[in-house]
Amino acid sequence: MRTDQDKVIAITGASSGIGEATARLLAGRGARLVLGARREDRLNAVVDGIMARGGTAVGVVVDVTRRADLRRLTDTALERYGRLDVLVSNAGTMAVSPFDELRQDDWDAMVATHVTGLLNGIGAALPVFRRQGTGHFVNVSSTAARVVKSPQAVYAATKAAVHVISEGLRQESGPGLRVTVVSPGFTHTEGVGKGASPEAAAAMTRMRDEIAMPPSAVASAIGYAIDQPAGVDVGEIVVRPTAQA
Ligand SMILES: NC(=O)c1ccc[n+]([C@@H]2O[C@H](COP(=O)([O-])OP(=O)(O)OC[C@H]3O[C@@H](n4cnc5c(N)ncnc54)[C@H](OP(=O)(O)O)[C@@H]3O)[C@@H](O)[C@H]2O)c1
Repeated sequence: MRTDQDKVIAITGASSGIGEATARLLAGRGARLVLGARREDRLNAVVDGIMARGGTAVGVVVDVTRRADLRRLTDTALERYGRLDVLVSNAGTMAVSPFDELRQDDWDAMVATHVTGLLNGIGAALPVFRRQGTGHFVNVSSTAARVVKSPQAVYAATKAAVHVISEGLRQESGPGLRVTVVSPGFTHTEGVGKGASPEAAAAMTRMRDEIAMPPSAVASAIGYAIDQPAGVDVGEIVVRPTAQA
């Protein structure tokens, strides 16, 4: 069994929030990381922080909506470390708004990031996992996937798609591969309300500031799933603040 000490783990959306917290946690356990996001300065800051603590990480500027970028992420893992054990598909955008505002670019971005982005990750990592005979997909969904609350319908639909895709992938995975969905509730990150319509953003940030859990709580859940022995697949973890209805 490979332990976190020698696992090679790629994480999308690692420049802030849950992805950053997950990178820090796993680096502290000795994993070798390949971190992807679009904001190079923020990504570099995360990589530098990990290296300063003696960890191992490399950053790759990645837009998950682009197939070639995900391939560069997995190629970097292979070139640097000779393998890829886990892909954490975490990149996301919560730019929610009422339908009447017709923010169709935001709708497209949520579909492109959560659905196409996830598929791009599967397309890049699955052949690697098949060649190795082992591999683990960890896909970040949301409690919003289960309870549709206006004005989050498009966001919720894309996160519901994460569950559907993950379940189909799990069924086709065979004995060597693992597929985990981690569904966080309100988490204290900069992404809450970012790009959302003003009213929705105000409601979300107010709620976040009142009840949200720290991103380290979600990182721990991801770490738990990764840390299970080979042959044990944690299918889903729902982790939410106790105060969340
Ligand atoms: N916070 C919550 O309450 C909550 C609850 C449930 C689920 N989630 C999910 O958790 C995940 C992480 O969100 P967060 O709360 O940690 O927010 P966050 O701090 O805004 O993190 C989002 C990350 O995704 C990256 N990203 C966004 N679009 C991308 C793209 N096209 N390509 C590559 N990277 C992209 C961002 O980096 P760049 O901008 O640098 O690319 C950032 O690193 C998301 O999937 C979100 O839907 C969050």
